[in-house]
Parts: sequence; C-alpha cells; structure tokens
Amino acid sequence: MKKEYCCQSCEYVSRKWLGQCPACDAWNTLQEQSVSKKISSHYTSLDQQHFTKIADVKAQNIVRFHTHHSELNRVLGGGIVPGSVVLLGGDPGIGKSTLLLDVLIEFTKQHPSLYVTGEESLEQVALRANMMGKGSSQACVLSSTRMDHILTIVQKEKPRLIVIDSIQTMSSDEINASAGSVSQVRQVTAMLVGYAKQNQCSVLIVGHMTKDGQIAGPKVLEHMVDTVLYFEGDSNERYRIIRCAKNRFGPAHEIGVFAMTDAGIKSVSNPSRIFLHTSQPRSGSVIGVVWNGSRPLLVEMQALVTQSYADYAKRVAVGYDQTRLNLLIAILQKHANINLSSHDIYVNVVGGIKVNETAADLAVLSAIYSSYCHVSVSAKCAFFGEVGLTGEVRAVLNGQIRINELIKQGVDHIFMPEKNMPSENKKEYISVTSVLNLIKVMDFVMKDHKNIKLEYGEI
Ligand code: TYD
Ligand code: MG
Repeated sequence: MKKEYCCQSCEYVSRKWLGQCPACDAWNTLQEQSVSKKISSHYTSLDQQHFTKIADVKAQNIVRFHTHHSELNRVLGGGIVPGSVVLLGGDPGIGKSTLLLDVLIEFTKQHPSLYVTGEESLEQVALRANMMGKGSSQACVLSSTRMDHILTIVQKEKPRLIVIDSIQTMSSDEINASAGSVSQVRQVTAMLVGYAKQNQCSVLIVGHMTKDGQIAGPKVLEHMVDTVLYFEGDSNERYRIIRCAKNRFGPAHEIGVFAMTDAGIKSVSNPSRIFLHTSQPRSGSVIGVVWNGSRPLLVEMQALVTQSYADYAKRVAVGYDQTRLNLLIAILQKHANINLSSHDIYVNVVGGIKVNETAADLAVLSAIYSSYCHVSVSAKCAFFGEVGLTGEVRAVLNGQIRINELIKQGVDHIFMPEKNMPSENKKEYISVTSVLNLIKVMDFVMKDHKNIKLEYGEI
C-alpha cells in the first residue's frame, strides 16, 4: 500500500517525512498514513448518470424531528433533519455528552436510536442518565471505537438517530493510522456521512476542540457535515451557548442558550433576561439589543475608561471587534469633543456573547461615555443604532422587532435612529427618543433625566 505523510495541523501532504511542515511551519506534525481510495467511494451512490432540470426535481418538505430542547431546535433551524449529520464541538466538560444523551433518550420514545461511546464505559453513560432522572430509559448504548464494527451493527438494527461520542476516538480498519489523526477522522466521518445519506439516519457527532478553539481534525471535517455547532461558555458557569457556524438546513449564526443544572441540561426560554444586570445601575453599563441569527437579544455592554499610565493607551475589546472599537473612540473624541488619548478603554459584552453588528455602535459609545463621565444609565434605558463617521446615527435592520423585544423585557426608554421610529400605536407603551445626532444622545446621558441617575452630580 502506498504511504504518504500528512500534516496534522494543516493537512499538507508530502511524499517523504519532514520535521517541519513547509505549508504551516509547524514542527513534528507530519504523520505517516496509507493512501486509501475508499474515502470518496462513500459518495458514489450520489452520482447521477443524467442531467436533471431543476423544475423536475420534487423538493420534499423536510419533516424534522423536534427535540424537547427549544433552543437546540432553534440552532438546528427547526429540529433534526432525517439523514443529516451534525457536528457538535466544545471544550471538555461543557456538556456535549449530557445534551446529546438527553436528546437521544427523548428521541428513543418515538424511534429506535443508538448512543455510541468511545470515551466512556457503559456504566458512566448510565450514571449520567441517572443524574438526569432518565436512568430507566430504553435507549440503546454501544461501547466501541471501530467504525466498521459500528456500521455493521447499525445496518442490522437500523436506528433513526446515532450519536457518536466522539469522532476523535473512532477509527476505521481501512486506514493505517491512529484514531484522531487527520486521515482517520476524515475516513470515519465519510463513512458516517455515506451511511446517513443512504439510510436517512440522522447522526450527531461530538468533536473535540484544539487549544485555539477549532474543532480538532481536518478543516474538511466541517465541510463534510451538514451542520456545525459550537458549545461555548465556561464549564464552571451555569449558562452555556450553542453557536451555529454552518447549517445546510437553516440559518447559520443562530445561538441557543442552555443552563446546566444538577438534573441535566435545560433550554433557557427567555435568554434576553439572563444577560441583563438586575442590581443598581452602574456607570459604564448600558443595555443594547443585537440581532442574533433570527431573533433580537438584549445584551449588557460594559465599558471601563481609566487613566492610562503607559506610553500607549490600551484599547481592549472582549466579544466585540477591536477595529470597530478604535473607530468609535475616534468618533467620540471628535464629535463629543473629549480627549481620550490618555485613557485606557476596555469594552466587554457580558455573558460571553459575541457582537459583530453595527447596530451595537450606539450602546458601545454610550457605555464608554457613561464610564468616562461617571454617569450611570438606568437598566430601563436601551440603545441601538449604527453610528457613522460624521457622528450621525443611522437606521438598522429589524428595528421594529428590536423595539418589540425591548418592550417585552420591560425597557421604557429607547435611544434609536429616527428612521427606525416605530408605528404610532407603539408610542403609547414606550417613550422613544429618536436621535439624528450623536451629540444629542450624549447630552441626554449627561442630563438629569428621570431614567438617569447621576452618581457624582453634574459634570
Ligand atoms: P459532559 O456532558 O460530560 O461534558 P463533555 O461531554 O462536553 O465533556 O458534562 C460534564 C459536566 O456536566 C460535569 O462537570 C458534570 C456536569 N453535569 C451537571 O452539572 N449536571 C448533570 O445532570 C450532568 C449529567 C452533568
Ligand atoms: Mg463527553
């Protein structure tokens, strides 16, 4: 059998062994692998002999399986699609196995399913089911790491859902490389994708993460599957987020919010609530509303402006774009006529949320200004709108839906672009300040308005 050497970090292939990968400069990453032609053979069943006109293709309505986790259904685009392959990546201990076991146990009440564990013993899986109060479930578990063996059993039992925990522990006899290597991960995923498509069986795959936050294995792994989800958050914290990075059956960039409890993992029904502070208003903290996938989400924007004692003032953004932060600071200096060159500025989006839309500009600016002036802004005030270089506040998409969500969460004063002014009937419920100009907002924040408490008096 032909041999070649494949870089485990970038998939560069060399005929001979090298100490350093010429493509990505990583050391000692080239590993020997046998060249197998079988990888692509799993796709051959999809090959057609003739052209087909689009009009002749009968697009069937997808009947999804709705899991009992509303937040998981949301990130999947409505539920699990039959025959789809979903990859769930995340740090150890974040709750991947717990969530997928929970989904599988509920799925088993309607259709046969199989949980394949390559990491834990059957007792450990049963113990986890017990913790979730589902120890008497009829769900089937298989402890194996050999994909050829797993697929042979699966062909006989014909489950409608398979969970593979995890892809890095699985190996195929057709490849002469250790489990977790680039070629093995690619091979076993190809086998699973082939099986899923031919048998209309959904497969949920657990993937490990590398140190730099990528799913371990070749990048092609993410291209092979239909949906890629990232489980994020701190494993010591109660709340976790699943972020969709790719979805062939629904919108990407959707997020789902979960809470880890003593009795398993639960969907959070009102995520906007958990990211808001409930204590007394503090300077440097304002409420924004950002668009996430297909829904608005309230976020707490925090800023800290302090005197800098270094040669260069620091600008640090967590959960927010650094370049955008620099741009907003420049706008603030010019149009609010303040000098921030000797101030360190830190911006943080609370709760591990990542904000990358311009509609958050006004909230970020207001948080910075609030911290700079030591003025606290009421938690009943919210800000959204794009800020242009000339200091104007520009309209954003989905203004009406954002306003509805803010009203739902109890906000009673919104700073927003004039072009996003709501319809008349909404004005009864909420006092909307439209702003054409950044300075107007800043003046408002400075004034002793009913919603704004001054901590250190007028500045
Ligand atoms: P796990 O699903 O094993 O994480 P992963 O598969 O991503 O590595 O999650 C394990 C953590 O979850 C562990 O710290 C214990 C905790 N946990 C609970 O808090 N409640 C529960 O009901 C369960 C089953 C686990
Ligand atoms: Mg696990």
